Amino acid sequence: MALFSIQNLVKKFGAFAATNDVSCEIEEEGILSIIGPNGAGKTTFFNLLTGLLAPDSGTIHYRGKNITGLKPYQIIHHGISRSFQIVRLFEEMTVLENVSVGVQHKLGFMNNPFRSFKRNKVVTDTAMALLERVELADKAHSPAASIPHGDRKILDLAVAMTAEPGTLLLDEPMAGLSKAERLRITALIRKLSKSMKIIIVEHDMDLVFGISDRIIVLHHGAILAMGSPNEITANKEVQSAYLGHEVQ
Ligand SMILES: Nc1ncnc2c1ncn2[C@@H]1O[C@H](COP(=O)(O)OP(=O)(O)OP(=O)(O)O)[C@@H](O)[C@H]1O
Ligand SMILES: [Mg+2]
Repeated sequence: MALFSIQNLVKKFGAFAATNDVSCEIEEEGILSIIGPNGAGKTTFFNLLTGLLAPDSGTIHYRGKNITGLKPYQIIHHGISRSFQIVRLFEEMTVLENVSVGVQHKLGFMNNPFRSFKRNKVVTDTAMALLERVELADKAHSPAASIPHGDRKILDLAVAMTAEPGTLLLDEPMAGLSKAERLRITALIRKLSKSMKIIIVEHDMDLVFGISDRIIVLHHGAILAMGSPNEITANKEVQSAYLGHEVQ
């Protein structure tokens, strides 16, 4: 069974189709990247998969269950979590506290999200273990506002992981990062992909072609091509329509 089975998905803003009749099967294994020029509909596609937007028509099945039109909290419950193109953190809280809020939510202690987690050992231990997994434990007690941009991206990813997802969607995890930070996140994504499905939207072609098992090319909201990195590189339509020149 496919992980995602997507049929004729359409999302319009007014008369403009940001997602234009997208159908595809996404398999359980491997890292999938979604590429395409600015405005191609990549983030809109993520928003549809995670319930931030409801499609106008079409269906999304995840592990055989119809999740079309479900709300974000219901979709997280099915095991799909995401990071955002623009990182969303509680700036005045520490790194550990940011992750603890997510852990507390996952554990169901959400009557008052800010109440007791600092004194709850299960929450703090779980959050700390997660920070160790993403190699951010040394910054646990730093305010989120004070850490470098690369660490913020990783913290955002750690917050998304508090849902213990089977699928993690990353919207431009490399945006604005230095070469060293990009290498660090690449290694982390590879490591995490051994225990969950990772789907990445990214403009960094070194990352995309270096890390992906499959690539989807979106163009004007529609799928222009889907295949292995080699197949995408060799695809003439991709070269002319998306890149305007040969993929290196
Ligand atoms: N809420 C909205 N209302 C109206 N138009 C929107 C809305 N969200 C997206 N769009 C439009 O839909 C198109 C696709 O946007 P989307 O953000 O999905 O592109 P993208 O591929 O993620 O681009 P980028 O690489 O710049 O992040 C764009 O033309 C955008 O202006
Ligand atoms: Mg986007």
